[in-house]
Amino acid sequence: MRTWRLDCARQTLVLTSDGDRLPEVVYWGRPLPAGEDLQTVARAYAIDVTGGMLDRNPALSICPEASDSFPGQPGLVVRDGQGVVLMPRLRFVDAEEGSALVLHFADADLGLRYMARLAVDPDTHMITSSARLETDDPVRLDWLAAPVFPAPHLSDEMIDVAGRWCGEFQLNRTPWSAGIRFRENRTGRTGHEHFPGLIVPGREATNTQGQAVAFHYGWSGGHRMVAEELPDGRRQVQFGHAGTTDAATGTVFETATLYATYSASGLNGCATAFQRHLRDRTVSFPDAARLRPVHYNCWEAVYFDHDLPTLKDIATRAAALGAERFVLDDGWFKGRTDDRRALADWVVDETKYPDGLGPLIDHVHAEAMSFGLWFEPEMVNTESDVYRAHPDWALGAADQIPGRQQLALDMSRPDVRDYLFSRIDAILRDYAIDYIKWDHNRVLPAPDAAQTRGTYALLDRLRAAHPGVEIESCASGGGRIDFGILQRTHRVWLSDSNDALERLNMQHNAALFLPACVTGSHVGPRRCHTSGRTHDITFRAWVAAQRHMGFEMDPRELTEHEASVLRDVTAWWKTNRAWMMQADILRLDSADPACIAEQQLARDGARFVVFAGKAAASEQIAPRPLRLTELVPDAYYQIDLVNRADAPDLSRGSPALKEGVLTVSGTYLMQHGVTLPWTFPDRIWVIEGQRI
Ligand code: DGJ
Repeated sequence: MRTWRLDCARQTLVLTSDGDRLPEVVYWGRPLPAGEDLQTVARAYAIDVTGGMLDRNPALSICPEASDSFPGQPGLVVRDGQGVVLMPRLRFVDAEEGSALVLHFADADLGLRYMARLAVDPDTHMITSSARLETDDPVRLDWLAAPVFPAPHLSDEMIDVAGRWCGEFQLNRTPWSAGIRFRENRTGRTGHEHFPGLIVPGREATNTQGQAVAFHYGWSGGHRMVAEELPDGRRQVQFGHAGTTDAATGTVFETATLYATYSASGLNGCATAFQRHLRDRTVSFPDAARLRPVHYNCWEAVYFDHDLPTLKDIATRAAALGAERFVLDDGWFKGRTDDRRALADWVVDETKYPDGLGPLIDHVHAEAMSFGLWFEPEMVNTESDVYRAHPDWALGAADQIPGRQQLALDMSRPDVRDYLFSRIDAILRDYAIDYIKWDHNRVLPAPDAAQTRGTYALLDRLRAAHPGVEIESCASGGGRIDFGILQRTHRVWLSDSNDALERLNMQHNAALFLPACVTGSHVGPRRCHTSGRTHDITFRAWVAAQRHMGFEMDPRELTEHEASVLRDVTAWWKTNRAWMMQADILRLDSADPACIAEQQLARDGARFVVFAGKAAASEQIAPRPLRLTELVPDAYYQIDLVNRADAPDLSRGSPALKEGVLTVSGTYLMQHGVTLPWTFPDRIWVIEGQRI
């Protein structure tokens, strides 16, 4: 029996293998004592055999094998060059044990080599894993799972993430039952519909308590997830690229990184591991010391109607509100009068900008803002010079259904990438630009891993040439959010919905995976362009202040009152961003389903801010106390209601927090909770706390 273990302060993962066979995870949970006998753990894990079963149970290994009569989905499905399905029998070759555990297995008869890599980060508590297949002869890969994990038995349901345009990060709860929950994203991008994540809460786990495991597959080309309960009761979780997305035969295949973590502190334990791992290990900001600047984005103010004096006026007003970066969105390049034309012709439009972008950028700089620019590099309109010259650069069949009247470029082609690099590089050289908003507004005609690899290569090349430029990943809002793209970018545009109510909910769910520092959130127009709802400026401003803050309305529409609220909230955000952008976002267990609440806790635990959003009218009259979390029980905290001035006249009583600062213990705040004043729906309370 071979045994291996990975440990951090939060969890132990034990892998054992029977002889030369592939190992299986026989333990994953709270840290085991250092002296635990892993041979015994392996023997104790084995389940019985009874009627109707094979005489021995096939291993639920890191790559379950069909050749082993595994009674579920195998981890590898591969065919030879002629299309004949192979039945690999992978056997041990070698194991490297260092900061990562690297396991080598091979099937000498078939000429296949399989490698699995697993590591645990001692600080973020994230397990990273990936699998690689090499072959002597070219093969066709139908499916390769990243190392397969078991899911806990004491769990009644799983939570995964769906969504749509303007409705990202919707949580699905599906009960476990015999068989498979199979999600496959064949859109060729991460997709609004298919954020590649899975949470398996233990029975009765909540945001703040209980056990849970969670997974994320860091790939932008579409994933497959298999969550399967076998006839014998065991459960497995597989993640990999969507099936058959490596269209060509080849001899080397690799999965993306599968991120996995165990928590004994509810869903929040998993969420903070993802947040920290993304922020501290995955995203590389050009200047880590630079505070996140307040954005202004002009899209919903002007759309394609770019007029220099108007944009200058808007820039001046945005700066006066507190903006520090001005992002010129779609519409600046040659012939781009609407969304039917000009994509791929990345030269400045001389009609709109007769003297180039210089005059606008100079003005933006004079207003003490940096300048960002929108691109959608992977796309082309048939109405464009590039398409007329290179119709063969477009991906997919000539009679395919277009998306937003556009086609995707074939990013696997070096000449396409060279062209895009040369155009974007030229603009970045010509102008002082420190930010790209990188959009992707249609699904691919078919999933294709080579497309994703091509995009990654272009991003990597541009970043090497322009290391000071930050990049935002946008795809009609949140259509490309994953840790793969975030290895190369620095912010995500969570959604095209600037509706504060929708955003409140979406941000809350996205925090299961994303930290505040990468999650863009903008104050939208008074009347939301995508929902038609009208929201008070206090609600719009505070919801944006929960994440990386920005504005996207036409500032000329703001009343003096609205402008002053926005200036104040932005100033508050700037005062607090240094610690808030490093904080853990903890979702609170709200006793009132109408209240969506989170607590952002500083890394040193010395301060926090709670955002308690009222997303609907409550069933009961008065607000139910809101329990806080992860505080030091014996410590005392001074808590203050930052925006008590927002209390409506209908709040007629005097709850203590409405009147002034309170000093109470961590135990009190976590046991009884905070009693807030009454307020309208579509309002939010902001509570600051300091440990004393
Ligand atoms: C979709 C994005 O999500 C919007 O923010 C905007 O950039 C438009 N594309 C521009 O075409």
